[in-house]
Parts: sequence; structure tokens; C-alpha cells
Amino acid sequence: MDGNGRWAAKRHRPRVYGHRAGARAVRKVVELATEIKLGYLTIYAFSTENWKRPANEVQALLKLLKDYLIKELPELNRENIKVRIIGTQDRLDPSYLTEIHQLAGETAQNTGLNLNIAFNYGGRLEIIEGIKKLFQESKNNPELVDNLTPQTFGNYLYTAGQPDPDLIIRTSGEYRLSNFLLWQSAYAEIYITETLWPDFDKVEFLKAIIDFQGRKRRFGGIESE
Ligand code: IPE
Ligand code: MG
Repeated sequence: MDGNGRWAAKRHRPRVYGHRAGARAVRKVVELATEIKLGYLTIYAFSTENWKRPANEVQALLKLLKDYLIKELPELNRENIKVRIIGTQDRLDPSYLTEIHQLAGETAQNTGLNLNIAFNYGGRLEIIEGIKKLFQESKNNPELVDNLTPQTFGNYLYTAGQPDPDLIIRTSGEYRLSNFLLWQSAYAEIYITETLWPDFDKVEFLKAIIDFQGRKRRFGGIESE
């Protein structure tokens, strides 16, 4: 989700105003994901690099996640959506962490859309935390390292047990991954739109999906019949 700040600036409003509009866009996108029976959707809400922003903006983004969860919980449960917050615990207040994970936990029994909210997320840190976890486990079980494969390493990431993303959508015309799902995105199709995130709606989402449906995916192989 990129472009909230520019969206607000165009309206001569503070950046936080753009983030609030961005949260409304999330609602619509999640709604469409449910309607088309998507299995997994990951939204990148706050990166490990976003701490560099002014304290008031960081605080607003932290509050926005909590408010989103509180406000949307009934609807998320009605729609059978299972929410997971993926990211590091680093720098987050323990009581805040408990609260957001408790809120997400209230959707744990749901079996519909898997909604990952990447919050305090960084792809490189995810890989490092995975390596540390593997290292700990391998102390009693050295075979874990000997038998490690790209498939089994995936089980040490925040997205353990989930399929790799098929499509990554980047808004606001930036041509970079910004530390998002680095390991998982190896063969993801990438779609970039100039649309700023608060303007990203169901039609924009469908355009991205239709574009994706026209891609030829070879995964390093050659085209089959
Ligand atoms: C949202 O857009 C990204 C988040 C951290 C939620 P930005 O805040 O990066 O918006 P721009 O890039 O300044 O327009
Ligand atoms: Mg940005």
C-alpha cells in the first residue's frame, strides 16, 4: 500500500489523513478478495523501515491498525476471514502486541480468506528470525540443517504453511519491492499501477487480477503445450 502521503498532499491535508483513507481502501480490497474467494491476501501496512518516520506518524499508524481490528472484527468474523499479523515483535510495546494479537486471535477459527497484515514487517529480518529459529531447533536435531531445502526453510518464516504469493500489487508507481516477502516472492508476478493506494478500489483490484490472468508463468521452465 503506497501513496497515502501523496494522496493527502494533493488535498493539502496531513499525511495521517491519507493513511485513514488508505484504511478505507483496505476494507474494499478485503471485501473483493472475499467475493472472489481468494485464498490468501497479504497487505503491507508497516515496515521495519517505517520507524524512521516522524513519531506522530508512527503513532498514528500503530493506532490505525488497532482501530481497524477493533472496528472490522465483527465483519471479518461474519465473512469467515482469518487474520494473522506477520512481522517482528522488535520495538513494539508488549501490551500493544498482546492487544493486536488478541484481536486477530478472535478470527483464528475462521476458514475463509487468510488475511495477513504485514505489520512491523521486513523481509530480511523475517529471514534472519527464521534462521535463528532453525538454529535453536537444530541444537537438538542437527539433521534439520543437513536436510534443509527451500521448501522446508519456508516453514521458519512468518508465512509458514502458506503458498507463495502469485501476484504482488504495488501502488503509486514505485518500481521496487521495499523488503516485502523477499523469500516468498521468488516467482511472483508483479503488477505496478500509478494509482495511489487510497484510490485503489475493487475495479483497480480486478484490473490487476485480469492482467495477472494474461501472464505466462513458466517458473524458470519453458512453455508447455
Ligand atoms: C503508505 O503510503 C505506506 C504506509 C507506511 C502505510 P506512504 O505513507 O508511503 O505514502 P507516500 O509514499 O508518502 O505517498
Ligand atoms: Mg511511500
